[in-house]
Amino acid sequence: MQIHEAIAGLRAARAGAGRVALVPTMGNLHEGHIALMTQARSHADQVIATIFVNRLQFRPGEDFEKYPRTFAADCEKLAAAGVEHLFAPDEAQMYPQPQTYHIEPPPEQANILDGEFRPGHFRGVATVVMKLFQIAQPDVALFGKKDCQQLMVIRNMAREFNLPIEIVGGETVRAADGLALSSRNGYLSAAERAEAPRLFRVLTKVVEAVRAGSRDFPRLEQGVMLELQASGWAPDYVALRKKLDLQLPSAHDSGLVVLAAARLGSTRLIDNLEV
Ligand code: PAF
Repeated sequence: MQIHEAIAGLRAARAGAGRVALVPTMGNLHEGHIALMTQARSHADQVIATIFVNRLQFRPGEDFEKYPRTFAADCEKLAAAGVEHLFAPDEAQMYPQPQTYHIEPPPEQANILDGEFRPGHFRGVATVVMKLFQIAQPDVALFGKKDCQQLMVIRNMAREFNLPIEIVGGETVRAADGLALSSRNGYLSAAERAEAPRLFRVLTKVVEAVRAGSRDFPRLEQGVMLELQASGWAPDYVALRKKLDLQLPSAHDSGLVVLAAARLGSTRLIDNLEV
């Protein structure tokens, strides 16, 4: 695997690489990321992974500083997965001067759900992903479905800016007890890790209830909020939404997804399930 720290080096490598798949990450790679790398391989001749912890998408007081940086282990996993190129720039490479131009997703996509609790987050994500797209010029780019709202924002950005890039979602990879794999799971204490799969279980109950015909969405959401609170969680939201645009569904809509974000101790976990 070739490791590129400079944009020029990656561009030179990309020039002769045929059809290219890009998998942007912030590192601390787990099986979910590696599944994306494997999926990427089926779409392209060469796979470019990126590792960059993007300051722009973190708010003051969030975990930018303590976000796990495990570069050597990540490189081993990527090489074992057969990834040809890793782009791992430092901040000076990505932001040689303060970023004054931004991609501003529309408020109805960016200020709901996670965006309500992390103002500016999707602006930071969209801006860095646009930069990575310009740098790597991939034919296809892959993002995990666990970050459901992120995937929607990036899909819409690619469509509205006529980017010649196919955006592909990768299925969420779960531990045996259902917990969605996430770099932030590493923050959990042993007791919190044992409690954490509850998030998956309560979302599963919502899916089953909707499939069984329940259409009182606010009551279902409220029930899950209460159950999480009773088990020591601090939920930000539990929301049944339309899969396509994450807007509020009416009672007869199909194609739904249930999403949740909740804090367990100091760790904020997100998850979602398609109904
Ligand atoms: O999902 C992530 O890891 C990040 O939000 C991304 C897409 C790499 C942008 O920094």
